Amino acid sequence: MSTKILVTGGTGYIGSHTAVELQQAGYEVVIIDNLSNSNAGVIDGIESITGIRPVFVEGDCTDIATLRRLFEENPGIKGIINFAASKAVGESVQKPLLYYRNNLNTLINLLDLMPEYGVEGIVFSSSCTVYGEPDFNPIDENAPIKPATSPYGNTKQISEEIITDYVHSGAPIKSIILRYFNPIGAHPSAKIGELPLGVPQNLVPYLTQTAAGIRKELTVFGDDYDTPDGSCIRDYIDVVDLAKAHVIAMKRMLSPEDTQKIEIFNLGTGRGLSVLELISAFESATGVKVPYRIGARREGDIEKIWACPDKANNILGWRADVPITETMRNTWAWQQHIMSPGKQG
Ligand code: UD1
Repeated sequence: MSTKILVTGGTGYIGSHTAVELQQAGYEVVIIDNLSNSNAGVIDGIESITGIRPVFVEGDCTDIATLRRLFEENPGIKGIINFAASKAVGESVQKPLLYYRNNLNTLINLLDLMPEYGVEGIVFSSSCTVYGEPDFNPIDENAPIKPATSPYGNTKQISEEIITDYVHSGAPIKSIILRYFNPIGAHPSAKIGELPLGVPQNLVPYLTQTAAGIRKELTVFGDDYDTPDGSCIRDYIDVVDLAKAHVIAMKRMLSPEDTQKIEIFNLGTGRGLSVLELISAFESATGVKVPYRIGARREGDIEKIWACPDKANNILGWRADVPITETMRNTWAWQQHIMSPGKQG
């Protein structure tokens, strides 16, 4: 019998790609999502890639009664991957309570119900934002946590602490915390990808919408940073590589092996790319020009950060290996898919 996994936020960007990889690895997937930033059509996309329709519950994880019902109706869930969270940095500054309520109540509810329903482990989506502006790069998991610069970032720090405290209290669960660097790209089938609502705040969706003519031009936020070309540097990781890491983490967490009850891994490529390098990677991978101009710095931006992924490479046996040109081609194919008539993702 296959192992049953609950994917919260499973119709979202990273959740949907992870649901696909879980199913392809033989896991049975149950998705819960409140569709606040995605649509139920994503379930069709997952089914069309894998040939298997995951169980889908439309509901909100901040409501413990909804979660309780889900566990009653889907007995035998062994692991959870928690993607159900709000993630826009700017919005979190405007609406901090929304972020604390969504992100923290969801996590607390899940942790609370795990022992009662025999769920053995939870994989948690954290972020490199917990490192703030690093003192050195590449940055590893032992680097100090810096004060958060947004309520969104703070929810990630507090969530890590909540999980740690709960595990240390002797709760009969395990956890793997994954600190993502900058996830980009789309599934190579172009059947699932990122569906930004409104004007995108993140670089890659803004870039692809500009290349598609939906936006007039991309603004590069600053070219006077202390980096080789003056633009900020990030570690852009392909979303399918990222999704695969979750499958490996789940397998490790649920294995009878005596691993630590709580483990933290960076998920990045180990390679930093500047904004300008990313634009030219897109242009050379697709042959499509991206109109851009240099603008002012964006408040709160980190100058440069990229991962030391050695721990994930060595302990999980995982490595990010999709070349950036392929990531760019996939993301462009996805942009064209969502613009084609009759398609909404
Ligand atoms: C931010 C968050 C991160 C979160 C991620 C996804 C921080 C410090 N980082 O990452 O935690 O997980 O969003 O929501 O809170 N850029 C432009 N023009 C644009 C958009 C972006 O030049 O129109 C530049 C930015 O200045 C930055 C890079 O592109 O240097 C990446 O920006 P973005 O995609 O927004 O991600 P982060 O800010 O790195």
